[in-house]
Amino acid sequence: MQSMTEKKQAFEAACAAAVKARNFAEAAKAASGAADCAEILASRTTGMVSEAYAKEARSWRDLAKKISAAPQGGGRQGGRPTCLTPPCGAAGADGGEWLVAEKPNITFDDIAGMEDAKRVIDEMVLYPMQSPEKARALGLNPGGGVLLFGPPGTGKTMLGKAIAGALDAPFYYASGADLRSKWYGESEQRLSQLLKAAKAQPVAVVFLDEIESLLPKRTEGSHAADNRVVTQFLADLGGFTDSPNLLLVLGATNKPWDIDEAVFRTGRFDEKVYIGPPDLAAREKILELNLKGAQTAADVDLPALAAAMENASGSDMAAVVSAAKRAALGRAIRMDADPILTAADFEDARRRIPLSITCEILAPYKDFMARRF
Ligand SMILES: Nc1ncnc2c1ncn2[C@@H]1O[C@H](COP(=O)(O)OP(=O)(O)O)[C@@H](O)[C@H]1O
Ligand SMILES: [Mg+2]
Repeated sequence: MQSMTEKKQAFEAACAAAVKARNFAEAAKAASGAADCAEILASRTTGMVSEAYAKEARSWRDLAKKISAAPQGGGRQGGRPTCLTPPCGAAGADGGEWLVAEKPNITFDDIAGMEDAKRVIDEMVLYPMQSPEKARALGLNPGGGVLLFGPPGTGKTMLGKAIAGALDAPFYYASGADLRSKWYGESEQRLSQLLKAAKAQPVAVVFLDEIESLLPKRTEGSHAADNRVVTQFLADLGGFTDSPNLLLVLGATNKPWDIDEAVFRTGRFDEKVYIGPPDLAAREKILELNLKGAQTAADVDLPALAAAMENASGSDMAAVVSAAKRAALGRAIRMDADPILTAADFEDARRRIPLSITCEILAPYKDFMARRF
């Protein structure tokens, strides 16, 4: 015997599968089924639990309505983005909220190391986007998706910004955590609008930062709102695959294992790039980049410092340099002298700033790579 929760989950899974197969009639039916189950569960429970089920029921009902209303073929009408959320003119309804109008002034030269990642980005993103005709002549389909994953502070967000700066294309940025906290309960509509707005452009890049919090694994215990975001995301991407527009979806995450499996099966994130802690040469370059313009004393040995900071993330290194700079500044003010960083400033800073990457932190990434590739 299936419990009501199991029934609801079966409907949810059926909805996701139907959307993926672009069988929207089936998807709408399954979404209604999930809404019915949630209503029954709401009537069987009390208090906050009941309220949560009622809210879930309304959301499924809503999604069912939208799926039936959306034109077959992924919800686009003659290339114009369809607004699915009333009121249509609301802020951000066209995804404009996430359009990065001002290009970030970070370039690839500001990023130390990451040679593999830069090469993949060149091959997958920059070259085909810069010369789509040449790419097509080779039978290459420009666009697609790249997932950047690795421990925190290794420069994934920074790389996303550098790509935005390097491409002469509209760049849409959304962080999973922001999208969820700001638009709790309607993040799926928001994400959908973002994707549609990007897709209305002939060429566009979407960068979904902290994608694991946006598209978490759908499990028994997981929140219905999360399930809907994943389902809607798959529906939107599915509708885009055969379009002539060029869309690049970049995702970044510290926790790739928390992402719903179906996201990988869309074929959207064919390219997965591990961004690990910086190697020795990259660490030295990060120190140099962060010290730009600062004066160091003769006893400061940057190569030795870089060698001693194995397993530091780029952001750990930036933090050490900032702390050393602050110490030098304090001394300079007290002594009314020029600020000059000494070896002791770096040593103090290193003692105070713990490294954020350990072997235990790296292990699950290795594990994920072994399972995924
Ligand atoms: N490879 C790198 N080269 C230069 N700076 C780096 C690098 N990796 C990290 N950093 C520094 O660390 C900061 C945080 O990086 P971020 O891109 O936010 O990491 P992530 O998104 O991987 O958590 C950056 O703003 C930059 O100062
Ligand atoms: Mg980041």
